[in-house]
Formats: sequence, C-alpha cells, structure tokens
Amino acid sequence: MTNSRKKHQEKILSQFTSQAKRFDQKGYSLSNKEYLAWTLENIPLNKDMVVLDAAAGTGILARKLAGAVRKVYALDATASMLAAGEKLAGEAGLENVIFKQGLAEALPYPDQKFDLVTCRLAFHHFYDYKTPFLEMLRVTKKGGFLVVMDLISPAAEKIAARYNELETLRDDSHIYALTEKEFIDLFENHGLQPAKVLNRDVEMVTEDWLNLTKASKSARETIFRALEGELKNGEKTGMRPFKKEGALHFLHRWILVLAQKPA
Ligand SMILES: C[S@@+](CC[C@H](N)C(=O)[O-])C[C@H]1O[C@@H](n2cnc3c(N)ncnc32)[C@H](O)[C@@H]1O
Repeated sequence: MTNSRKKHQEKILSQFTSQAKRFDQKGYSLSNKEYLAWTLENIPLNKDMVVLDAAAGTGILARKLAGAVRKVYALDATASMLAAGEKLAGEAGLENVIFKQGLAEALPYPDQKFDLVTCRLAFHHFYDYKTPFLEMLRVTKKGGFLVVMDLISPAAEKIAARYNELETLRDDSHIYALTEKEFIDLFENHGLQPAKVLNRDVEMVTEDWLNLTKASKSARETIFRALEGELKNGEKTGMRPFKKEGALHFLHRWILVLAQKPA
C-alpha cells in the first residue's frame, strides 16, 4: 500500500469511527424512508437472492434489503460502523445480515458468489474507484445485478471542482464524486450496459450535514460563506443552496446505476 493510500485509509477509519454513533440518527438523508423506498423500488429483488452490500457502513441499505432477500453480507472497512449496524440489526430481530470488516478493494469472497451487489454513497470515498468496481463485478454472478448509488458532481468541470473542494473541506475522506457520465463510462468500459440510470435530488440541511462530520469552525465558515455567496448570485458551488424556514439548505444529486452482468 502506498503512503498516500494508507493515509487515506486512516482518514476513512477516523471519520467513520467518529460518525458511527450519529450515522443512523433520524433526520439525516441516509436513513430517510422515502429515499430508501425509492432505492428498493428500483432494484430487482427476490427471496432467493444472496446479496453483498459493499462499504455498507451501519448497513442502512443492507438491513432494508434483508426483508426482501435470503441473506445479505454487509462489508465495511470501519469496525465501529459495523458494530453500530450489528446492534441495530439485533434490535430489529434480523437474522440474515452478516456484518464483516474488510476492504472493497479486496473483497473476501469467491468469484460469482452474489446474485446482487450494491454499493451506496461510498464511491466518492474510494482512493481508486476502479479497483472496488472490478471487485464488485468479480463477485457478482453471471446474470446477477450490480447497483451503484452515490452523490454525483455537476457536469461543468469548474463547478465540479468547487463542489468537491467544499465536500472535502467538510469531510477529508471525500476524494471525488464522479459525474453521471463518468459512472456510465465506468460501467460501459467494463462491458456492462446500464439497464437503469436514475437521478434524484436529496435535500440537505447544511447545519446537520456539517454536524455529522464534526466539521471544523473554519470549514463551516468557508462553506456557509460560499453558499450564502451563491444565494446572492456569487460563484456557483454545485450545491444549489436555498433557504427554508430561515435555515440554509442545499441539494445533493444522487445517482442509481443498475446493470446486469452478462451471462
Ligand atoms: C458515507 S458511508 C455510506 C455507508 C452505507 N453504504 C450507506 O449508504 O449508509 C461510507 C462508508 O464507506 C466505508 N468505506 C470507505 N472506504 C472503504 C473501502 N475502501 N472499503 C470498505 N469500506 C469503505 C466507510 O467505512 C463508511 O462506512
């Protein structure tokens, strides 16, 4: 492992060890019922499926999928996220979710083990997103499905650069949110024709979003200044800020790409 990759991995562990206790808190978009329902509606599911949720965190998606399939493996790099998820799964009486620590870059499973592989909101944290993608593809059965969901950057390069700069300021384990085109290229360049490419806006409360990562005072000030500035027709941040009941909100854009691995 190179030094910068190692440093990045340390940032992931530090960030998500800190977030683990707050991650499932009500009010965050992560466990929002409407967004989860939208996700499940768009994934082919059946009771025989064995599923991997890669970089599963506390298993918000994995635990939701558990009711619709045979078994879900929830793999993540951060032990505290898994421990929080395992506790919640126990409280919900879920017996078919298996939590395991590991890296998406080296999935500890044999080729073609899973009927469905999902990965939500993690690609923007990957040091080199192609390696986890290839691993997810490797462990998907022929004829099985791969579903990647993430934040996306705006298509305009300059705005995307500013957008990623602000995201990284708030969370130093954010590397880069791909654009829609980059996600489609990623699938197509690996022989997968997306059957679905869906987008949706996700409303974010700026203060809550900053609290989840415990962003520093200076990061908060810079981000608020940038968003307030955009509201006054200043530089575009790609975050599409707006005011609601006096509070500053903005929009994330989520993508869902679904493809079937050729038989
Ligand atoms: C924003 S959270 C998303 C969690 C979950 N997928 C969800 O949607 O609720 C990102 C997760 O990716 C995990 N992660 C980041 N890089 C990883 C890697 N290389 N391998 C495995 N997990 C990783 C982090 O530990 C964290 O739990």
